[in-house]
Amino acid sequence: MDIVKEIRGLAGKKNAIILAHNYQRPEVQDIAHHTGDSLELARIAASNDAEIIVFCGVHFMAESAAMLSPEKKVLLPDPGAGCPMADMAEPGDLESMKREHPGAAVVTYINSSADVKALSDICCTSANAVKIVQRVEAREIIFVPDKNLGHYVSRFTEKKIIPWKGFCPTHERFTAEDLMAVRGKYPGVPVIVHPECRPGVVDLADEVLSTGGMVKFAEKTKAMRIIVGTEIGMIHKLRSVAPHIEFIPASGSFICPNMKKITLEKLRDSLAEEKPVITVPEKTAKSAVRCLEKMLEFSN
Ligand code: 13P
Ligand code: SF4
Repeated sequence: MDIVKEIRGLAGKKNAIILAHNYQRPEVQDIAHHTGDSLELARIAASNDAEIIVFCGVHFMAESAAMLSPEKKVLLPDPGAGCPMADMAEPGDLESMKREHPGAAVVTYINSSADVKALSDICCTSANAVKIVQRVEAREIIFVPDKNLGHYVSRFTEKKIIPWKGFCPTHERFTAEDLMAVRGKYPGVPVIVHPECRPGVVDLADEVLSTGGMVKFAEKTKAMRIIVGTEIGMIHKLRSVAPHIEFIPASGSFICPNMKKITLEKLRDSLAEEKPVITVPEKTAKSAVRCLEKMLEFSN
């Protein structure tokens, strides 16, 4: 049987919902019930009535879905799909940093482990980081783990941002010089980038947007060509919402190997065997989910 039909049949029979991040392979995006950015997918995970969620994304996303929907079985078709940036923040190091800055609030990017979330005051995603930091009642903010998103946020607040040293290897590779080179090749074409990019790249961009923000931008812009500074999977998503626009990848090296680990075959096997199941120990989940729920509440 055709694998697409097989997956649809299994999902229907098992009352499963397939969620795919905007960086997933085109064929995985196409079969998903919903695609979106981290915030959109977290909201869907928290509010749908399926029995199973198959998360086509990376580990922290499935972990967040499992905490927001504890009554559901959450599957991650490749358990090795991690996020190197999330691995750059360890709970022990965060505890030390908290001791060094006793008055500071901890705002933690959703790209982090449940253990780190459990030690935080509130979560954020790239779509709501500025708003969350502005709303948190503290003059000092420990921002974990992305130094680039932390730097971006600091442009919009008087609060003192104490950055962690993490970064996304996929976005960090792209430099201001690379952006100048692509701008030179396509003069006058607007550039949109993700806030995980380096500050020098952000300085040169026309728009700095979460992946969901990029979709909204493409839906309303009058531009006929756009240079896209983020993971290559985004190009498929953008073409699907605005097929009349030419989307130009800012660099061929914008590939997240972890996002690409999920294939249709792994998705089918995961649904058929109902594994691997992502779970979070109850004690950790109890504290970590509070940070996620607070974020959803604050960003309404
Ligand atoms: P978004 O929340 O903007 O989709 O970003 C997630 C991510 O992992 C970016 O690298
Ligand atoms: Fe993590 Fe970067 Fe991949 Fe996003 S693109 S999942 S931040 S490694």
